[in-house]
Amino acid sequence: MTFRIVHVSDPHFGGLADPAQVAAVEELVPDLDPRVIVLSGDLSQRSRHGEFQAAQAFVRELERTAPVFVIPGNHDVQWWWRPFVPFGRMVTYRKYMRYFGPVLSPTLTFPEAIITSALSPHGVAWGSLTYRLRDIAVKGHLPRKQIQRAAQLFQEADPEQLRVLVVHHNVLRGELSRRMGLARWRQAQRRILKSGADVVLCGHDHQESAEVLGGRVVVSTAGTLSQRSRGGRPSVFNRVTVDEDSIQVELYRWEADRRLFKRTDVYAFPRPRRTDEAEVPTGVS
Ligand SMILES: [Fe+2]
Ligand SMILES: [Fe+2]
Repeated sequence: MTFRIVHVSDPHFGGLADPAQVAAVEELVPDLDPRVIVLSGDLSQRSRHGEFQAAQAFVRELERTAPVFVIPGNHDVQWWWRPFVPFGRMVTYRKYMRYFGPVLSPTLTFPEAIITSALSPHGVAWGSLTYRLRDIAVKGHLPRKQIQRAAQLFQEADPEQLRVLVVHHNVLRGELSRRMGLARWRQAQRRILKSGADVVLCGHDHQESAEVLGGRVVVSTAGTLSQRSRGGRPSVFNRVTVDEDSIQVELYRWEADRRLFKRTDVYAFPRPRRTDEAEVPTGVS
């Protein structure tokens, strides 16, 4: 079994998106032979109709190759509609849902894999608050209910099925930013480890990475397709290839002069066997 995922994040359609990069991704993706394409949030810059419409056109183009799995990022939430109000929060996702459907934490099942997601952008919410004022509406958090839902799905999955969790905010510390995407990140990491996920796909930090969380969960962090790459470095998107024994993350880096993405880095990790696991996830606290 070989299961390939093209993992793209943070196009930020609007003034910051780079149309040349978007076109190059559209052109290259069919050659990468993905079973699914994951777009892990921040489709827009300011949740504007035109930005979502451009994102929708991008998704439609990618869908010619494979199903596209989309989740919202913090830029896709109109948080100013409901700051600190704990009820009626759906209004803040209304515009995103108009273009990408009513499901904010989608699940997609294949014979070889189950892909699900946990909603991390909640606008200005108590769970996302930190002591830094400028983090307001930027940081995310992983509510217990969200991760319990994913854990339940993973538990019910066939033991051979790959379990993929998609989250917008980076779950590991950014190398240049030195920032965690999530408030209460230790608790979030514990919850992810307990959920039974094999692979986490995230974005938000605008710097790519391929690392392992807790010695077990492979984390693919995709960069951005916008001009806001961390440290002014070239944009990167990822391809994750999973077979019986390994999980491989390849980084495709933007070459501005040639106007194309080129594979520059390959990370390979052993795929943990489910029967080897000391602890079968029984729930998430
Ligand atoms: Fe972003
Ligand atoms: Fe973000």
